[in-house]
Amino acid sequence: MLVGPETWDDAGVYQMSPKLALVQTVDFLTPVVNDPQDYGRIAAANALSDVYAMGGKPTSALSIVCFPEGGDLEILRLMLKGGAETLRKAGVALLGGHSVRDREIKFGFAVTGEIHPKRVIANSGAKKGDLLVLTKPLGIGILATALKRRLLPKATLALATRQMQQLNEAAAAAMVAERATAATDISGFGLLGHSLNIARASKKTIRIWSRSVPLLPGVLEFAASGVAPAGLHANAAYLAPETRYDEAVPEPLRMAFVDPQTSGGLLIAVAPSRVKSLLARLKRARIRGTVIGEVIARGAAPIEVAA
Ligand code: CO
Ligand code: CO
Repeated sequence: MLVGPETWDDAGVYQMSPKLALVQTVDFLTPVVNDPQDYGRIAAANALSDVYAMGGKPTSALSIVCFPEGGDLEILRLMLKGGAETLRKAGVALLGGHSVRDREIKFGFAVTGEIHPKRVIANSGAKKGDLLVLTKPLGIGILATALKRRLLPKATLALATRQMQQLNEAAAAAMVAERATAATDISGFGLLGHSLNIARASKKTIRIWSRSVPLLPGVLEFAASGVAPAGLHANAAYLAPETRYDEAVPEPLRMAFVDPQTSGGLLIAVAPSRVKSLLARLKRARIRGTVIGEVIARGAAPIEVAA
């Protein structure tokens, strides 16, 4: 076992031979959008993301489906179709799966990928002085809550849906090429929760430059009016003792930093000398990479948020 549960990584890594290790992960989720095919695509992109976050290449997947008895089978068909479509796009073979009856729909995949045992990008490798690059803007959880309350403009929904369907494949290729020292994808624990995993595993402090962090449109306004998922408040409570905020960081921004993301971007720690070429690679792949902070020696708290 090269990477196991103790470093809070996105996926486990198990060495098969001197040149081959398997990257394994499982992820499934309740619907985040109303369109079943979009939901399927998102579920697949989200599950594959944990392999990409390790620097791995996903190769095969097994589906996991929970579906209500007597539910509309056309919905099920479209979910599966969307998922299969995204797997195909990523060059991942769907080997089979398992379904159970459940009151609430859930869908996702167990994914297996491959990686060279010496090129694993785990949470534990961040070095003092590294810069942090984020590859997708934040706010998906807040927008999904706005959608449930019928407050979300159509154009914003379309943008958020596209973002969640976007694979982290090209972002991962860019970070592997630039020898990233550590990486994670941003999902249920939000930016700060996943930053904490890197901070702990690397025994460093992560400092976020709050004004540099990109957000989806409308996120701050919704947050300011109290539109937020339950998971955001749970994350905020869990992360409060681990985080030092500059007083000037406004509350809606603090909410966005702990907002649970679905199929979020990668957070990549990289040597400062590599950051320019990493951003250039991301740009060529039409990914908006942003430097949002730095890795410093362990201070009073594992996370600092600067105004
Ligand atoms: Co993850
Ligand atoms: Co995950």
